[in-house]
Amino acid sequence: MKHLIAPSLLAADFSNLKKDVEMLNRSEADWFHLDIMDGVFVPNISFGIPILEAIKPLAEKPFDVHLMIVQPERYIETFKKAGADLFNVHYEASTHLHRTVQTIHANDMKAGVTLNPHTPVSVLEDIVSELDLVLLMSVNPGFGGQKYIENTYNKVEQLKELVLRKNSRALIQVDGGVDNTNAAQLVEKGADVLVAGSYVFKSANPEQTIAGLKNLSF
Ligand code: DX5
Ligand code: ZN
Repeated sequence: MKHLIAPSLLAADFSNLKKDVEMLNRSEADWFHLDIMDGVFVPNISFGIPILEAIKPLAEKPFDVHLMIVQPERYIETFKKAGADLFNVHYEASTHLHRTVQTIHANDMKAGVTLNPHTPVSVLEDIVSELDLVLLMSVNPGFGGQKYIENTYNKVEQLKELVLRKNSRALIQVDGGVDNTNAAQLVEKGADVLVAGSYVFKSANPEQTIAGLKNLSF
């Protein structure tokens, strides 16, 4: 399978979201990556339900919702109603992760789990076979535009090994500081989905930048 591209709307133009949604529809992007921050789990507040509801009717691709909030299980049904296709919770924010994953599936969404840069891949040993996606943070979550953490390459390799050993269907996603300097190597190590915010939306031609990430031609 060719790797997927999930541009993060955190770096989009909030005064004209429709324009960026339409650009993503036209582009080679595969998913919309939506970063939900509560100002508690991470030191920043982004956007929430009303924004998802507003753009869902315009968007022609799946919603990959990355919840950087405490107790994300409280909002599973709410985000399903707002249009989430994949509900992705942080390992560090989920005490009863197995139950949370079951509830996500019961609500007819794909289930993802995210690891912060300091959280080892090995914590997923007993849950990875239940997951549709694992997101490795390659920056500390909370802000766009940060520098890629080099150790993420090792974590992608470790996760790939774990996914194969457990015969898991989980896709490997990487988020934070992804750009032309690391995308190809991440895919080579085993990344299935690349998230990119600033690299896409701050570029002169976002559609072309997305095509570059998809085809690894820079
Ligand atoms: C960071 C978010 C990312 C962010 C990535 O907490 O999870 O999705 O938007 O932005 P860039 O690509 O600019 O690092
Ligand atoms: Zn994200």
